[in-house]
Amino acid sequence: MLIRTLRPEDGPSLARGFEQLSETSRHRRFFTVMPHLSEQALAYLTAVDHHDHEALVAVAPGSGQLVGVARFIRNPREPDHAELAVTVIDSWQRRGVGTALLRELAQRAAEEGIRYFAAEILADNRPVLTLMHRLGGAETTCSGAVVSARIDLTAVTDQAGTARDPAIPGPPRRGRRRTAVPRRR
Ligand SMILES: CC(C)(COP(=O)(O)OP(=O)(O)OC[C@H]1O[C@@H](n2cnc3c(N)ncnc32)[C@H](O)[C@@H]1OP(=O)(O)O)[C@@H](O)C(=O)NCCC(=O)NCCS
Repeated sequence: MLIRTLRPEDGPSLARGFEQLSETSRHRRFFTVMPHLSEQALAYLTAVDHHDHEALVAVAPGSGQLVGVARFIRNPREPDHAELAVTVIDSWQRRGVGTALLRELAQRAAEEGIRYFAAEILADNRPVLTLMHRLGGAETTCSGAVVSARIDLTAVTDQAGTARDPAIPGPPRRGRRRTAVPRRR
């Protein structure tokens, strides 16, 4: 599995990935039922500047298909905080892609001076809540149907530092990195 930064020309692949999300996954990611990604949404999602807005994609070996994307967008009022979002297409879920993307994104964010990720999550979204708690550094506050999560990135990057494969030097600074993820079943 290759993890690399999103490129401007990834727009069509991102749109194809969206088409492969179940209704549940779309709703959990966007909090609304979206049949398609609009041109406007696609333009926004691909307008990464690698400093205030970064996105990493997971690319399937062989097909080159984008199977996951994780992004942060800096909060202009609190520049060491950023909003986090992560999505993996349903047929690739539960194989460690989400975890790998978030670990790499935490490294990238730390390089850009971000200390905390924040995310609003639907309270019944057990997968992402479990994932965040397992990454480390997550605090959650529930308010009705929505949970606010805050992740202290020092905890994540410390863990990643000890877990990192010594054969792969350093994070994917605006580049690429290969991560072992079980093959598609
Ligand atoms: C949340 C999401 C990104 C997780 O991606 P993923 O690639 O499946 O995550 P991982 O395989 O790394 O899973 C990590 C852990 O999370 C938990 N988890 C993931 N999917 C789960 C599920 N369906 N049910 C229960 N736990 C789950 C598990 O503890 C899992 O570890 P394990 O498989 O060793 O038990 C994916 O489910 C998704 O895209 N959901 C829709 C979009 C969304 O909800 N985004 C979050 C809001 S921003």
